[in-house]
Amino acid sequence: MNTQTAYRTHTCGELRLKDAGKHVKLVGWARRVRVLGGVVFVDLWDRYGITQVVFNQQWDKDLYEQAREIDREFVIQVEGEVRERENKNPNIPTGDIEIKAASFKILSKSKVPPFIIEEHTDGGEDLRAKYRYLDLRRPPMQRNLIFRHRLLQFTRNWLSEKGFLELETPFLIKSTPEGARDFVVPSRLYPGHFFALPQSPQLFKQLFMISGFDKYFQIVRCFRDEDLRADRQPEFTQIDCEMSFVDQQDVMNTFEQFVADAFKSLLDYELEPFERMPYEEAMNKYGTDKPDTRFGILITDITKDVKGFGFKVFDTSEYVGALPVPDGSSITRKMWDHWEEYIKRVADVPGFFYVTWKDELKAKGPIIKILGEETVKELFNKSKVGPGDALIIMAGPWEKIVSALGTLRLHIAKELNLIPKDRFKALFVVDFPLLSWNEEENHWEPNHHPFTAPKESDIPILDTNPGKVKAKAYDLVINGVEIAGGSIRIHNQSLQQKIFDLLGLSKEEAYQKFGFFLEALQYGTPPHGGIAFGFDRLTAIMLGEETIRSVIAFPKNKSGRDPMLDAPAPISEEQLKELHIKIIEP
Ligand code: AMO
Repeated sequence: MNTQTAYRTHTCGELRLKDAGKHVKLVGWARRVRVLGGVVFVDLWDRYGITQVVFNQQWDKDLYEQAREIDREFVIQVEGEVRERENKNPNIPTGDIEIKAASFKILSKSKVPPFIIEEHTDGGEDLRAKYRYLDLRRPPMQRNLIFRHRLLQFTRNWLSEKGFLELETPFLIKSTPEGARDFVVPSRLYPGHFFALPQSPQLFKQLFMISGFDKYFQIVRCFRDEDLRADRQPEFTQIDCEMSFVDQQDVMNTFEQFVADAFKSLLDYELEPFERMPYEEAMNKYGTDKPDTRFGILITDITKDVKGFGFKVFDTSEYVGALPVPDGSSITRKMWDHWEEYIKRVADVPGFFYVTWKDELKAKGPIIKILGEETVKELFNKSKVGPGDALIIMAGPWEKIVSALGTLRLHIAKELNLIPKDRFKALFVVDFPLLSWNEEENHWEPNHHPFTAPKESDIPILDTNPGKVKAKAYDLVINGVEIAGGSIRIHNQSLQQKIFDLLGLSKEEAYQKFGFFLEALQYGTPPHGGIAFGFDRLTAIMLGEETIRSVIAFPKNKSGRDPMLDAPAPISEEQLKELHIKIIEP
């Protein structure tokens, strides 16, 4: 890499002991400035590293005096000689040398930065967001964005080598089928008409397959107007892929290899082969469709074991589940109360019981008396725990209770430090139900999107038992985070129509929304399928970051705003008029 320019001969991360004696020119930011006994030390920083520059009044009194003006984050250019350092710094690659300054120039001054620009900063999240460009100068942000760059390049190269073509799709489009709210863009030329920004390029990539491109990918921005969370942004990046003439296994195998190669190449980490876990198993054992399989502690269905003892809560519940807590017999009463309060708050569950087994069984409430010691011990046994441990038991509707137990499983594992750090576990969750029933609106909804194919063997029950139909859909989960999702698509017009019927979408509505696509399906559609990765999530997981904001250069904050731009913002009367828009104050 040639970094020599009109301003510098070397970067701040480049010089070593072998360069001693060379006359060099460096530029960078004054990261730290110390004045000690007639010497000014400047830690000169650029993206490549830090080099110590020294101004000694015994060498040049004037220069020393001028150097005292240098302050934090000034951009300076220094000329001088590389020399061996007396006090070497083994913590940085340039720590054996320093620059004996012969002259310097202040290229630009800096106001006092609003927070410390170091590995650890005193700046709060809001302040750093407002001065994001300064936050990005900090080492962790530099590392994250440089890693992001490497993962982007790795992705491009890997997919290109495997024959995927990088093809672009438009941003000004019509509503896409992902099911979140659209961001819309008013049209000036067509009053009252709007473009929608893509929630994903879903239909375009399917059209590419109809066009015969066989393998497509795009690293693409997607826009969704939905509630924010740590792993959600209103605009985010996908690695979007589609392949023709493939089945589920082909897509999953291809992208298992991609992920394994990325972890190996960028982190030198060997992922274990990815398990394929059916949705039902994920829900029953982990209480979620994105199980964190880095640690055990599995939910056990004990519905049958506890019915018929005359305990009304158990006898009348659809489902009773148990969650083991290893070493749970030594958990304090205060901790139990805290867990109970937590799960009642976040999951709105009616009953929460627990039994501890130290020398003898102890329970909160009447469980032991009602079920008897033998039965309770059998429940421990069934949950693969025993003396020294504890069991949490909850009863109610199946989905609500397994989900609550799953939430508690994660919460407890975090609090008891049971999740191994620096470990990655990836798996595919498969066999999702194709549809779920929307109680409020009284119709079926697609779990993925309406173009996802049902399993062939389930097509006969589409009419009679739609809720039992499984989809040819798959999610990639790493450490409990949904990193990617995809499916095999419907390539048959009449099956597509049937699915729209089930979703309560009339022919007219379907044509109004997706007419161009339904038309296209009739011109020789190859069997095809694909997947899309949340690129920000993949980057964040690989870096061990808690939120995707840490791997996005200019993210929106927790309230969906950009505090630096102060956006969204009102537009002028003139612009509104041009767009034929009138604001109705809320
Ligand atoms: P899906 O909606 O599952 O599928 O999205 C794919 C992946 O994108 C990521 N993701 C997000 N990341 C950050 N912020 C968000 N708001 C956000 N929403 C989604 C997730 C998710 O797994 N067209 C289909 C893919 C296909 O079928 O091929 C789609 O978009 O990591």
